[in-house]
Amino acid sequence: MTRLRAMAGTGRLALRTLPGQGWVRGSGPAVLSRLRDAAVVRPGFLSAAEEETLSRELEADLRRRRYEYDHWDAAIHGFRETEKSRWSEASQGILQRVREAAFDPGQALLPRVHVLDLEPRGYIKPHVDSVKFCGATIAGLSLLSPSVMRLVHTQEPADWLELLLEPGSLYILRGSARYDFSHEILRDEDSFFGERRIPRARRISVICRSAPEDMGPEEPGQPPAAS
Ligand code: OGA
Ligand code: MN
Repeated sequence: MTRLRAMAGTGRLALRTLPGQGWVRGSGPAVLSRLRDAAVVRPGFLSAAEEETLSRELEADLRRRRYEYDHWDAAIHGFRETEKSRWSEASQGILQRVREAAFDPGQALLPRVHVLDLEPRGYIKPHVDSVKFCGATIAGLSLLSPSVMRLVHTQEPADWLELLLEPGSLYILRGSARYDFSHEILRDEDSFFGERRIPRARRISVICRSAPEDMGPEEPGQPPAAS
């Protein structure tokens, strides 16, 4: 653990020297500045060794599962998934680092981590995570393939962001980015970050979520994940 923490510290230090803006594009400066702390990408969050540790461990869990082509809500195509609660010590150290980077100390997290494996042609259609199952913060690690996540305001579709998610990156969606914007992972044909083509291959994401907020009876709630 001590060694992992030390590695983690080194990673964070190196990260501060990287420019922050190359990984987020938006429809305009207003939406970019409004979501600056709500939609965050941290490229190189994982070291190459950490990526390898996670992908190896996940491969063992995923291998037995079949790719599915219709999610229950049809939001995800060409995927297999698992919710994982037991992790190797090395992976626990990585996940702890994600929690520290993405969540407030008082925030309760879902106990299990969502692992989603998208095949090269797999993609995620625009949706808002259901407030029944997820609280204010979503934090995802990306492995294997780069991809583009697009956020579109549910009321003002002219307001959008694109996040470039390279392998080893961490993204965080919180508050307005999580509630007021849909998010999607573009399919290979549509996978562009601005003008830049981002070819999609198999991608695995490791997603930590905060627990749903306690909704009182008069709470209006949010629409469930769109299809
Ligand atoms: C989801 C989702 C994003 C990702 O499963 O609801 O939006 O990074 N996943 O895989
Ligand atoms: Mn989602």
